[in-house]
Amino acid sequence: MQLIACDDAPMVAAAVADRLLEQRRVALAASPGPLGLATGRTMEPVYAALAERWWALSAGERQALQRGWLSFNLDEYVGLGPADPSSFSAVMARQLVAPLGLDPSQVRLPDGRAGDPHQEASRYGAELAAAGGVDLQLLGLGLNGHVGFNEPPCTVQAACRCEPLTLTTRQQNAADFGGDAALVPAQAITLGLREIYAASSILLVVIGAAKAAVLQRLLHQPPSPELPASWLRGHRQFTLIADRAALTGGA
Ligand code: GLP
Repeated sequence: MQLIACDDAPMVAAAVADRLLEQRRVALAASPGPLGLATGRTMEPVYAALAERWWALSAGERQALQRGWLSFNLDEYVGLGPADPSSFSAVMARQLVAPLGLDPSQVRLPDGRAGDPHQEASRYGAELAAAGGVDLQLLGLGLNGHVGFNEPPCTVQAACRCEPLTLTTRQQNAADFGGDAALVPAQAITLGLREIYAASSILLVVIGAAKAAVLQRLLHQPPSPELPASWLRGHRQFTLIADRAALTGGA
């Protein structure tokens, strides 16, 4: 595992945006697989920093990167579609598709409105596999140690599936639903640890003192199903990038 410690969240966002842009440049030259993307408060400054860099590129390079963009998001709430502002699809439209001038078809997510979410999870996993799997996987960290929506307990064999959400996660994400955890959908479709672990490289982004306790567990506990992110430490190209507040609890 490589640990990159930054002073603050803007520095983390800048470093992550640089990595994403670099992956897209390499993808254009040597065609490795798509990017794996995440949503959440952690990613908001990352995508904003990426958009800044995007518009500082020459028009020729930007257009080439726009044409060649392909990314797969980790997850989507069951029952929500692009028309719902709280869906991850709508979040990606606001934070990435529009700011970068992409076509929505270049930013893939599971369809939360599919009639059968289990079948949709299988379809989405197969779609990612057909695209060659993820090259660089970007991840945020849940307060309970989830990545994507791989809720504890979870093993590294878990594949793309429809997963019930824990109360901790629904509370964590309640702000996007008017502050009411009961309004957060009870299920989500998520790429599994299996697809995440199959990525060529993994970048876990952790910012803020609220994540300090779970980050300490991740750094010091042996891998276990109770902390899904802990399996990432065994990945050959795993990078953790965190700000001082997350690493020290703000001390
Ligand atoms: C969410 C998402 C994850 C996200 C994580 C952290 O529930 N399913 O993909 O990375 O939890 O969220 P945040 O960045 O808002 O703390």
